Amino acid sequence: MARDHGFHPVRITRIVAETDDARTFVLDAPWPYRAGQFVTFRACGALRSYSMSSSPDTDGELMTTVKRVPGGLVSNWMLDNLVSGDVVEVTRPAGIFCLRETSAPLVAFCGGSGVTPILSLVKSALATTRRRVRVLLANKDADAIIFRSVLAELADRYPDRLEVHHHLDVLNGFVTATQIRNFVNVDTHADFYICGPAPFMDLTEAALRDHGAGADQILVERFGSADASPAEQAEQDSLAADAVADASGGAVPAAEPREDGTVTIVLNGKKHTVPQHPGETLLQSARRAGLAPPFSCEAGNCATCIAQITAGEAKMRVNNALDDDEVAEGLILTCQGEPVSADITVVYED
Ligand SMILES: Cc1cc2nc3c(=O)[nH]c(=O)nc-3n(C[C@H](O)[C@H](O)[C@H](O)COP(=O)(O)OP(=O)(O)OC[C@H]3O[C@@H](n4cnc5c(N)ncnc54)[C@H](O)[C@@H]3O)c2cc1C
Ligand code: FES
Repeated sequence: MARDHGFHPVRITRIVAETDDARTFVLDAPWPYRAGQFVTFRACGALRSYSMSSSPDTDGELMTTVKRVPGGLVSNWMLDNLVSGDVVEVTRPAGIFCLRETSAPLVAFCGGSGVTPILSLVKSALATTRRRVRVLLANKDADAIIFRSVLAELADRYPDRLEVHHHLDVLNGFVTATQIRNFVNVDTHADFYICGPAPFMDLTEAALRDHGAGADQILVERFGSADASPAEQAEQDSLAADAVADASGGAVPAAEPREDGTVTIVLNGKKHTVPQHPGETLLQSARRAGLAPPFSCEAGNCATCIAQITAGEAKMRVNNALDDDEVAEGLILTCQGEPVSADITVVYED
């Protein structure tokens, strides 16, 4: 497999307290990466992705920033237990929430820990392009703002190119569609980056679409897991139906069981074959075969469920993690992949 998706031992060089609830973990991981990408940690028997807050163009070290999620398994463990010098297990960087080759302005909307990949993108855009950059950063209150001083320093250094607007819920309530449209103002031709809590992202994306932004102008990074709301689930189901319709030239096949279809999964070097069940993802088929392949978000965001298709074809319902080259190479997010050929074989990397 071309892509190294294994876990590597990495030492934590130091830990920086950003707010009461957020820490930056500086990692001794001299890997190339693109601004906006993430790494995945294996901890507490779970897999969790964290975006880089550093930029490969301005920072000598790779840094991820983690915000505590109330009741959350891994974020709390990392903040409460890890100390400088500890060794953690981490994948190499991945993800497609990256800068594009364009001179259009970059307009970003982020909330809470969603500022992490946005900071990485902002630093790289300022350092390597002449693009104008504008950020609307929403937080509950001033104490919750992560990277307030870093963004202020950047705005001082690039007064003609960077504008940062802080929205505080305690003062102004939640961000509204009108505020999103007003922030866009004349920059309707911008690339729009969105990262934050799901309702904030949904509202922002809808407001941008209403304001005339094309789908190709909007880039999203979703931190969420598969605990989808009914609306999100309905949207995913509809996307799934569209994906299957695409694969079949527009006609959605009847949900008949494939009598002769099979899914073959190779995990830890062992081959397992089960009959295909319509509407089932490759990850679900693997579980039905009694296997426990890797996964985390189950929403197409984190790439921890990645596998290589070695025979047959599948379509992904949602893909927020693999780039076009990786898809062309046959890599698939198994939590999102549904077979579109009678027989299919996927191999998980050892
Ligand atoms: C591509 C990607 C990049 C990410 N980058 C970052 C990052 O830079 N910084 C960061 O802090 N997090 C980031 N996340 C989120 C992170 O991976 C975890 O989901 C988060 O830390 C919660 O994990 P947990 O084990 O603490 O909570 P869990 O035990 O998984 O969840 C506990 C409860 O909290 C809910 N929950 C899960 N995630 C969130 C969330 N993000 N916000 C609110 N509620 C949640 C769950 O539905 C569950 O009810 C990223 C996620 C993805 C997919
Ligand atoms: S489990 Fe996150 S993309 Fe599949």
